[in-house]
Amino acid sequence: MASTTLEIPKLEPSAVVVFGGTGDLMHRKIVPAFYHLQSSNRLPADLCIVGFGRRDLTTQSYRDGLRGALEKFSHSQPDESTWGELAARIEYFRGDLEDGESYQRLVTWLESLPGAAQRRGNYLFYLSTAPRLFGVVAQNLFAAGLSCPDGNVPGSRRLIVEKPFGEDGASARQLTSTLQRCFAETDIFRIDHYLGKETVQNLLYFRFANTICEPLWSRRYIDHVQITVAEEVSVGSRGGYYDHTGAARDMLQNHLFQLLTLVAMEPPASLDAESIRDEKVKVLRSISTPSPREWAAHSVRAQYDAGVVAGQPIPAYRDADRVSGDSLTETYVALRLAIDNWRWSGVPFYVRTGKAMTERYSEIDIVYRRPPEILFALGSKGQLQQNIQRLRIQPEEGVHLMFNTKAPGRSIAIPVEMEFLYEEEVTKQLPDAYERLLMDALMGDSTLFTRADEVEEAWRLVDSVREAWASGSSCTLARYAAGTMGPNEADELLARGGCEWISS
Ligand code: BG6
Repeated sequence: MASTTLEIPKLEPSAVVVFGGTGDLMHRKIVPAFYHLQSSNRLPADLCIVGFGRRDLTTQSYRDGLRGALEKFSHSQPDESTWGELAARIEYFRGDLEDGESYQRLVTWLESLPGAAQRRGNYLFYLSTAPRLFGVVAQNLFAAGLSCPDGNVPGSRRLIVEKPFGEDGASARQLTSTLQRCFAETDIFRIDHYLGKETVQNLLYFRFANTICEPLWSRRYIDHVQITVAEEVSVGSRGGYYDHTGAARDMLQNHLFQLLTLVAMEPPASLDAESIRDEKVKVLRSISTPSPREWAAHSVRAQYDAGVVAGQPIPAYRDADRVSGDSLTETYVALRLAIDNWRWSGVPFYVRTGKAMTERYSEIDIVYRRPPEILFALGSKGQLQQNIQRLRIQPEEGVHLMFNTKAPGRSIAIPVEMEFLYEEEVTKQLPDAYERLLMDALMGDSTLFTRADEVEEAWRLVDSVREAWASGSSCTLARYAAGTMGPNEADELLARGGCEWISS
């Protein structure tokens, strides 16, 4: 993938302007990420961070608010002198996202900040606003001369766009075309924070830096693949957003499809952004759009009822704040997908994600075909266990290998597990995804960001399954109790393929 994390790249000084600078993401993720970059000396002199917001704040009161958030959201206890260095870079600009005049003021104000000459017009604009404003802000930046798709401005002008990128294929295409009128595609950085996770990046290293995996990962040796992103959290206070979104749009379209493409892609010609993204998009293109009848057999959608998660009672989804009492929004989705290419033809990929499940974990299980059982007496299950390679994304990040061995003193084969844990072998604290993504956007490396065609292909599949569900002819909304691993229908989905979910 992009440059290794051990290198400390040389960055050009820039101004990072966060639209939605008083919002939740700035407090929870962006400032903690900048704090850790500051504490490891990875920020260049003269990099400045501007919060753009409507509230009547001074730079000092803005900094104070961020300092409070850091206390809550940093993964290490903040240190006053590091915070002092970071705080000195932070400025507040009061403006209205929808008002062109605010952007005219922004231009002159940015040029008047200390260090502006050293930054030589390098700007990284971060859209951390309500999604309906993504296009509005980009157009206002363009109108104010702060961006230009032909690069006809001094310095670099880059744009980070938070998710969700559209609500469906049509709105995503429209957003892409608006953004591309204001910024070059190579300067648009669509965030999928899963790509910034170290263990997700490790997927490519694991596959292509080892001879033991790559030749085996194909229809010749692999029975099927399972991808699970299970969440303990329920909808909580996000009902207003979630009830219009659902698991397919919130998680599947982005995070799960990103994991799928990294597991299934061919070796890229090189590690540059376009070569990797070309291979990823090919995987999605190899999944033909299932008909509603096929989706009826190959998809499960479900919603949680009341239950207990980690000892806490959780009300039913329909009783959550700002969720409609007769909501049909899915909080769980499971699919069986067929990647119809030379490598994977006939190998089912099962993906599932849900809220209010037994525990929080994300992992990928590569399940090998069963060996012939002619030679050995069998263990208690009456079958030799299949070999499984497990790539654990979070928590307890690592890699596991399940294989069979001889039971000492007995003539039977028993399954055992070998494991590598990052925490034990490499580091206790993996960097947060946002640290990596901010650094890469500042460097202009788009490897870990999604390209327009990837987004479009992922929407094609999500739109088709949602249309099948909405047509009523396809699977009905199943139910599961909060604190379980999903509905029985999802177990039946795998049983039809002769397998079962591997719970970690
Ligand atoms: C976000 C979704 O993109 O990812 C949330 O909107 C979800 O609903 C979150 O909870 C999960 O991210 P992570 O990093 O906690 O697995």
